[in-house]
Amino acid sequence: EGNSGYDISALLKETGNTTLDVGFVNTASCQSAITYIDGDAGILRYRGYPIDQLAKESTFLEVSYLLIYGELPTQQQLEEFTARVSRHTMLQEDLKDLLAAFPRDAHPMSVLSAAVSALGTFYPDALSITDEEQIDQSSVRLMAKLPTIAAYAHKKSQGQPTLYPDNRLDLVSNFLRMTFGVPAEEYDVDPVVSKALDQLFILHADHEQNCSTSTVRLVGSGHANLFASISAGIHALSGPLHGGANSAVLAMLDEIDGSDDDVDTFMKRVKNKEAGVKLMGFGHRVYKNYDPRAAIVKETAHEVLQKMGVNDPQLDIAMRLEEIALKDDYFVERKLYPNVDFYTGLIYKAMGFPTDMFTVLFAIGRLPGWIAQWREMMNDPATKIGRPRQVYIGETERAYVGMNQR
Ligand code: ACO
Repeated sequence: EGNSGYDISALLKETGNTTLDVGFVNTASCQSAITYIDGDAGILRYRGYPIDQLAKESTFLEVSYLLIYGELPTQQQLEEFTARVSRHTMLQEDLKDLLAAFPRDAHPMSVLSAAVSALGTFYPDALSITDEEQIDQSSVRLMAKLPTIAAYAHKKSQGQPTLYPDNRLDLVSNFLRMTFGVPAEEYDVDPVVSKALDQLFILHADHEQNCSTSTVRLVGSGHANLFASISAGIHALSGPLHGGANSAVLAMLDEIDGSDDDVDTFMKRVKNKEAGVKLMGFGHRVYKNYDPRAAIVKETAHEVLQKMGVNDPQLDIAMRLEEIALKDDYFVERKLYPNVDFYTGLIYKAMGFPTDMFTVLFAIGRLPGWIAQWREMMNDPATKIGRPRQVYIGETERAYVGMNQR
């Protein structure tokens, strides 16, 4: 029943065996062998490997291979995969023209999604959903081109000329150079920044059936091609309750001046559920414990800011908010803990990314997960087109009323 005023059980009887599960809280949409989460214990594994081990020992491209192909690559497999991705980082000049046509203040997530959608038009012979070779080629193209598109979107927003990829660099260093470098000038990639960003991409690489991944699967379940499905996933990620949370955390921290009074006032507003006021970067549909990714990010935030010599008072405010929340009944009772995005924004800011780019970074990290999930679904004989039912609560049958009688 609840707030709707409708008797849901009566409605369900009328609708037959339909289950009403708003937000899919208890409904599994598929079987998957990619990512395991135990939300109560705070466990996350990709293909069986614990996230903390991958974050410490692996690289983003190696993890991408693991997610997409199911096993860690041998040295030779990794070299081949890396070489293939490096070969495809360039964009067609016509696509560059299309990017140039966006207004300068366009949100880079919109540019990213539109460009990925447009990519499909440049490879009309690679849109098959059954030809494994074509799908593999499209996967590699996406992995290679998304960072280039992201860097171009950033350059556009700054009114600066774009840089071609330098494929002697690894994927992350290449992206950093295209984002922050200037034509005709040397750009030295800071290894601390490059390593930290690589690790953040690993932490974002997959998270089973979250909002954007479910979107990728749902769009793909209608047999839409990989580019179209990923483009839809990018839009799903852009919302502040999902990937947009990393920008929203900084917007929230901007509003708090750091004094004890101000922090307390903000927490009261959150707990009073003032419209639109949440502790952003806190809470998760699945984790009812500390998000294991957040624990790693928090450590990285300290390390990166220290190594870069950045003293950001917003890190102190964030830690103060976390300290209060972890002891406060409101958060304890609801099992609300920091999620992956509570501290990422502070790192991205220290690296020099503008707030608008934060969610774009999430998309680059999440891409191999989307690709792996789309491919797993396409290869699963049990896959059907996604088509949820509803519980109808509108008018019962009524006769048409002529215009002169309304
Ligand atoms: N601040 C304050 N209260 C919160 C928060 C928060 N961040 N998150 C949840 N709550 C409260 C809700 O108001 C609700 O209270 P109630 O029981 O009194 O009604 C209770 O906790 C349960 O929350 P729901 O919104 O029902 O949980 P749901 O699973 O639907 O939402 C979500 C999860 C969207 C992540 C939510 O916690 C949220 O909005 N968090 C802030 C945004 C955020 O950080 N998003 C990033 C998620 S991680 C990711 O996408 C990478």
